[in-house]
Formats: sequence, structure tokens, C-alpha cells
Amino acid sequence: MPRLGVLTSGGDAPGMNAAIRAVVRTATSYGWEVLGIRHGYAGLIANDVVVLTARDVGGIIQLGGTLLNSARCPEFHDEPVRRRAVDTVRRHQLDGVVIIGGNGSQRGAYDLAQSGVPVVGVASTIDNDVFGTDQSIGVDTALNIALEAVDRLKTTASALQRAFLVEVMGRHCGYLALMTAIAGGADAVVIPEMETDPEQLIADLQAAADRGKAHAMVVVAEGARYNAEQLIDYFHARRDRLGYEIRATILGHVQRGGAPTAFDRLLATRLGAAAVNEIMAGHAAVMVGVRQGEIAATPLDEVVRNVKTLDLRLLDLARRLAT
Ligand code: F6P
Repeated sequence: MPRLGVLTSGGDAPGMNAAIRAVVRTATSYGWEVLGIRHGYAGLIANDVVVLTARDVGGIIQLGGTLLNSARCPEFHDEPVRRRAVDTVRRHQLDGVVIIGGNGSQRGAYDLAQSGVPVVGVASTIDNDVFGTDQSIGVDTALNIALEAVDRLKTTASALQRAFLVEVMGRHCGYLALMTAIAGGADAVVIPEMETDPEQLIADLQAAADRGKAHAMVVVAEGARYNAEQLIDYFHARRDRLGYEIRATILGHVQRGGAPTAFDRLLATRLGAAAVNEIMAGHAAVMVGVRQGEIAATPLDEVVRNVKTLDLRLLDLARRLAT
């Protein structure tokens, strides 16, 4: 019986479970056996595997986190360590491995493919920074959590005529922050892709106060040159010029937890099934994602060689609407 391995790696993303479920049920529907590899690449190195049947993945589509657990595994970059992972693949006679994760995980998938293992990646990270897909699994959920926070903060901010800095995740990518700012109607946004002068932010806040706004909202990407902590220190030292009292909220890992949205469940399900189809068609060393609404496979070497860029026209939109 042909056999497939599946693992989740790196930061978890809401929808990973839906992807595991889709991989297992698609593969078993074609008569393949599926082995779940626990704790990401660390489990592949340590031979930590478990058989997954269609029943084992029942009741998980609505759950955040990952049934298989995840891990960051920097030692996977070392060739001798990676050889132990390849040994695990050979020992279990895996005909393919599906790797569900973000940029670091796809780099690992590429390395594994270079060692001769048939690998297909599935783009999954809340950061939306993976080249080869318009959207990764987990982004929609994280965005909605950030938005809910902004909506809630606006009500308390208005009650006391305050400004808020809301810091969102995204590592080195400003996607989550920019989308949160646009969808949340923020007054300003701070992202790594664009240099932001804190003095300009003070001017933006003053302008909002002058327009008679009851509150002001600034969305800050964690990877920006000035994060929320640095900005709040800067602003506190210049509070007389701000126009508002100001507070900072750092959302952090809250954005990664909880149930995936319908969008993420559907995306994860489609990508999980597509990954299995790619393996079965003999198309290894690719990553599946979604491009212009269609499921698309991108060679892993392109995924790891390129950087996904942010559409900065959206920054203009955010600024124009912040009046
Ligand atoms: O890559 C996903 C992510 O949540 C980033 O947004 C964030 O910078 C990082 O992981 C946090 O990593 P950790 O969970 O290891 O603290």
C-alpha cells in the first residue's frame, strides 16, 4: 500500500488541522496509508510517527493549533541532521511527505526534496509572507481576530477620547497590519516595508484630534522599525503634542489561537487535498497555494528564492481613507 507522511512545522496557524484532515482523508480515499509526523521536522529526525486514519482526524476541522504539534527546528539546516530525517522517510517507505507551514518550513521542504524525498509544501502562516500564494492558511483568522480587537478598542478609546496603538504579528511582513488598518478604519499604519517617522504619527494624531475625532487608532506591525513599545515611549515623552492620551495593546499570540474562519477551513481543505493530488501525480518539490482564486503549485526552489512583496498601493488607500 502506498504511504504518505504529513507534518506541521513552525508557528501554528488556524486551519492547520483542517489541512491535516484533508490530507488524510484524500489520501485514504485513494487507498493510501498516512503517517502523521509529530512535532514537525524534529519528529521526522526522531522518528516520532503515528498512523492516521480517516477517523483519527474526525472533529478537528474547527480546532486551532495542530493535532500533530509543531516545532521550530533550526538544526534541520544541518546536512547530517537532515540525513536522519531522510532515514525516517526510508524506514517507513514513504512515497511522499506533505509539509504544512510557512517560509522556514518550505525552506526545509526544499532541502528535503534536494535529498531525494518527494515533498509537497502547503502554505500555512498567519504572516502571509510566503511567495507563490496570494494567501496562506491562517491569515484570514488572524486578520479577523486583530479586527475584532480594533473594533473593541475603538469603543473604549471613544469613551475616554484616547488614541491606541495596536500591535499585530507578521514577523517582517506588514500584510496583517495593513489589512487590519484598512478594514478597521485606522488613522495610521506602521509597517516594515515603509519607513515611518514618529513625528509624522504625532502629526496624524493631532490632525485626527483637530478634526474632532473621539479616538484615534494606529496599527503597528511587530516587525516595523519602531514597534508599539518603542512608539509609546516616544509618545509619552511628547504627550503634550499628541492631542490624545495614548495606550498600547500588543495582540501577540492571541491572533494565532482559536477556531479557524470558514475561509481558512475551506482554503486549508482545498490545499490539503491538492497537496495529495500533486504527490499522486508525481509532481514533487512544489508548494501548493492559491493564485487569483485558483489552486496553483509553485516549484519549491522558486518559493525559497523569492520574497513575497506587499502591494503598497494598499498603503495609499489606507492613508487616503484615514480622514
Ligand atoms: O510566523 C508566525 C509568527 O506568529 C509571527 O507572526 C511571529 O513573529 C512569530 O511567529 C512568533 O513566534 P513564536 O511563536 O515562536 O514566539
